[in-house]
Amino acid sequence: MDRYAVIGHPIAHSQSPFIHHLFAEQTQQTLSYERILSPLDDFKGSLACLWREGGKGCNVTVPFKTEAFELADELTERARLAGAVNTLQLLPDGRVLGDNTDGAGLVRDLKRLGIELGGKRILLLGAGGAARGALGPLLAEQTAEIVVANRTSSKAVQLGEQFAHLGQVRGCGFNEITGSFDTIINSTSASLQGKMPAIPAMACRSDTQVYDMMYGKEETVFLAWARNLGVQSRFDGLGMLVSQAAESFYLWRGVLPRVTPVLSALRAKMELPST
Ligand code: ATR
Repeated sequence: MDRYAVIGHPIAHSQSPFIHHLFAEQTQQTLSYERILSPLDDFKGSLACLWREGGKGCNVTVPFKTEAFELADELTERARLAGAVNTLQLLPDGRVLGDNTDGAGLVRDLKRLGIELGGKRILLLGAGGAARGALGPLLAEQTAEIVVANRTSSKAVQLGEQFAHLGQVRGCGFNEITGSFDTIINSTSASLQGKMPAIPAMACRSDTQVYDMMYGKEETVFLAWARNLGVQSRFDGLGMLVSQAAESFYLWRGVLPRVTPVLSALRAKMELPST
């Protein structure tokens, strides 16, 4: 049986086995998918062990995405742009391909939710790994303008400059945000601390569509902020989690699973409210 896994530290909370088992069932593929807790100082050893024991591919999560990027023998263009790898595939010649499906998962989820990107003005909050992974796939959708805003403005400015060759994008600090946006995407980890990025309320109209890459049993502070401003279209990031997994599954198996039934099952399992 073809073997797959998700490698991270910690890993016990990972929903990836649940998601991939449902994908396998749905597409009638026979495979196994497990969690691997890697020692923090031996990701390389954990990977070698997986390949030795018949592994065909794996997902990589915190804190190993940069290390996976460095270890891969070959990179997809989107992984190169993201500077991080969340999916590895053992190639027939024994080399290892590194891909990044996070940004593609985000775009797929935005489309599933009916959020148009072409010709739109987008505000992306945060300038960490999550923002970096999102920028390439977002710009590929022919957005009119992406403003990357971050608490530490220099990181946003740098990110804007790195992606300027792909489209209209610029970075700034929260206090330099001007005008309103069609869509606001929160890629900061502020929600994990129950904090709201300090952005001006005028950035958000009542018809703005807002998306938080985070999710949880309680509404995130960012989504609550938008609700208080009268925003109707508010979405959490659980669909992005399932969609990035679907993109990984596609790379490994050549079949793209349907996201919606798996997302519903996951929401029920995790007892998360529908957004
Ligand atoms: P990752 O690479 O996993 O995305 P990260 O590099 O630590 O993680 O990035 C976290 C992002 O959340 C950063 O953009 C960070 O802002 P800074 O660059 O200024 O640190 C942002 N962030 C974290 N806590 C925040 C908060 N309370 N308010 C606003 N932004 C916050």
